[in-house]
Amino acid sequence: MNTTRKEKVNRVVLIGAGLVGSSYAFALINQAVTQELVIIDLDKEKAMGDAMDLNHGKAFSPSYTNTWYGDYNDCSDADIVCICAGANQKPGETRLDLVEKNMKIFKGIVGDVMDSGFDGIFLIATNPVDILTQATQVFSGLPKERVIGSGTTLDTARFRFLLSDYFNVATQNVHAYIIGEHGDTELPVWSNATIGGVPISNYIDTKEGCHQEDLDPIFENVRDAAYQIIQKKGATHYGIAMSLVRVTKAILGNENSILTVSSYLNGEYGATDVYAGVPTIVNRQGVREVLEMRLTDKEQQQFDHSIETLKNTMNPALE
Ligand code: LAC
Repeated sequence: MNTTRKEKVNRVVLIGAGLVGSSYAFALINQAVTQELVIIDLDKEKAMGDAMDLNHGKAFSPSYTNTWYGDYNDCSDADIVCICAGANQKPGETRLDLVEKNMKIFKGIVGDVMDSGFDGIFLIATNPVDILTQATQVFSGLPKERVIGSGTTLDTARFRFLLSDYFNVATQNVHAYIIGEHGDTELPVWSNATIGGVPISNYIDTKEGCHQEDLDPIFENVRDAAYQIIQKKGATHYGIAMSLVRVTKAILGNENSILTVSSYLNGEYGATDVYAGVPTIVNRQGVREVLEMRLTDKEQQQFDHSIETLKNTMNPALE
């Protein structure tokens, strides 16, 4: 394909066309998010086949996306490089168990991307996502605001979905965040959770058939959702792909949207030199600002524990 660029168009490069990556590509095209999508995979035949397959659907989509199978040279003028490559969880494995394998893979990939002269935004999906986002920043040397992980965007979406289902209120009107590690130590910020501005802890008391004791199990279902899905179908991919598209849109559209991506913390929430999922204003520059909610003492303790877990796993792996 002739990739000579006559005018400035948005280009997303996807690295890793496994289940998550190819679902991301499919969702990107269906939502008409970018003019150019380049797919890179170690398995060139797979990437080539995906590009063909997706282009054949173009006539049926609202999309103007040109998709092709490419190589690392295509990253040189990419706006976003999204990495979905690496091993994924097998039944019974935690996300943190993947750290050594995927850290090695990332060192190679990020080096190859940077050798192309890439100067855009990294969006990381591979688990353990907070740790690999930090590793990407270290390996690339790019400004911290231009290295972002999917963080707890999906967990927050799961949380909002389950609460919307429970209260029978549209997901868009449920305001509630999951923060911390995208993994077993994440936490729900109940103290700031509202239904259209009404605190959930107040709202629940007014609703017949709804009880405070139902809230913990709702969170547990969020935290354990990936294990349940992996048990049932071997992998999760649609949800994470759609949350990656949401972040991609926020970046390319310069939206200033608030999303719980994995952002670099430099004192916010009492954490330093670590990436974790927190409400973040996202725009064309990447991270504009981390939003600091007031947490209860219990929430702060849970957050501290999550950060400690991330650091204890990351520090040996980065050495
Ligand atoms: C999940 C994977 C993306 O939570 O970690 O579905």
